[in-house]
Amino acid sequence: MPAHLAVIMDGNGRWAKARGLPRVMGHRAGVEALKTTLRLCSDWGIGALTAYAFSTENWSRPGDEVSFLMTLFERVLQRELGALEREQVRIRFLGDLEALPQRLQELIVEASERTEKNKGIHFNVCTNYGGRHELVYAAQKLAERAARGELDPALIDENIFAAELFTAGEVDPDLLIRTSGERRISNFLLWQLAYAEIHVTNVFWPDFDVVALTKALVDYQSRSRRFGGLEPNKRLDNTNALEPTAVRHLGA
Ligand code: FPP
Repeated sequence: MPAHLAVIMDGNGRWAKARGLPRVMGHRAGVEALKTTLRLCSDWGIGALTAYAFSTENWSRPGDEVSFLMTLFERVLQRELGALEREQVRIRFLGDLEALPQRLQELIVEASERTEKNKGIHFNVCTNYGGRHELVYAAQKLAERAARGELDPALIDENIFAAELFTAGEVDPDLLIRTSGERRISNFLLWQLAYAEIHVTNVFWPDFDVVALTKALVDYQSRSRRFGGLEPNKRLDNTNALEPTAVRHLGA
């Protein structure tokens, strides 16, 4: 099993359009798919799930769609916080959070604080997130430390750099899933995805379910991960791999 799964939840708008519904109904259905995915990841021992909910580029969408999404994030957080607490989920929001509506910022602080000691899956919601912004922000913080004389620039290495990213302390994603057939990274986790396996499915995000996730995991388990070397890397622990019978049972 991957220790960390990242998802680009694409195709909400097209899912809605195909049903003659407003685009925003696709986002509402997308929340249900995300809940299902989180629960499955938690049940199957995946340590972290990082989902791309709103990018720094998404502000350019029509104003009413952006407002709907912000209100949706608030409602979902309010509604689900109790369940997240009970199920031991540790939720964090990654991105430039100061640009979000005040009420949403308050809910984010509350949810992060109330779940920070939870021992279960790490659930990271990338909100107003951009990979390039994250890298520039990390560089700024390191430069400030160097300018204050607290850090010798010659000592900056990958570990010191990664510690300034929003994902500090999290292992890098082993697997990236992108739905709706698009084959782009779209400014998502540019540093962290360096060695991730990528699984693209044509399924629209609201239709992403146990079968689609199982197919992605079986695809992941078929990959030979060499991390730039010649031999499959022994860091992989496949003792947790899905049993073929379980996979057949799921129809994948
Ligand atoms: C991409 O589909 C999806 C989004 C920009 C929003 C995803 C957000 C959610 C599923 C809600 C998550 C909620 C919480 C609280 C974490 P698209 O609109 O780009 O679809 P299209 O490519 O078909 O137009």
